[in-house]
Amino acid sequence: MAATHTAKAATSSRSKATTSAKGSKSKSAHPKEEEGKLKEFFHDEIKDIYWAEKKLVQTLPKLAKAATSEELRDAFTNHLEETKEHVSRLEQVFELLGEKAQAKKCDAMEGITEEGASVIEDTEDGTATRDVALVLAGQKAEHYEIATYGGLAQIAKTLGLDEIASLLETTLQEEKNADATLTSLAEGSINDDATEE
Ligand SMILES: [Fe+2]
Ligand SMILES: [Fe+2]
Repeated sequence: MAATHTAKAATSSRSKATTSAKGSKSKSAHPKEEEGKLKEFFHDEIKDIYWAEKKLVQTLPKLAKAATSEELRDAFTNHLEETKEHVSRLEQVFELLGEKAQAKKCDAMEGITEEGASVIEDTEDGTATRDVALVLAGQKAEHYEIATYGGLAQIAKTLGLDEIASLLETTLQEEKNADATLTSLAEGSINDDATEE
């Protein structure tokens, strides 16, 4: 194998290049400057879902506390643990991107969680109707996350960020499972129980 040049030619005089150097493009542009608009957009969206996940860590205990049935309470509690993992997985993503973890307010998740709080106010404690409302609120959050992680994993692949794509896909699968659990609870008993109230 040919030896690779690991050292740049010694620069005896490090004079400041003040000339405009028309027609000669610099080879040593900073990588940050070469990042495209798509990567910038991707970073912003990661900050957005990071905010959303942290918001869910605060919200899921409230949903669990408000639930009437034990199964629904358990479903929210289990997903709370997964959601904490989603937060730390995103912190790994920031690390892989070489950035500090940073949250940017997600208006969509703010609205979804506000709606969750209002269904608790609008339904009676200890009823199956309360659980129907909580399942619906929970599924709205899961569907937002499924759409987000599905899209972001695809963008990560497009950008050649395979390790990040696989982290996002792991979370995506857990969001799908959480959604399926809520569906089976609704179909299994909760909705029927509520028709008797
Ligand atoms: Fe999540
Ligand atoms: Fe989730």
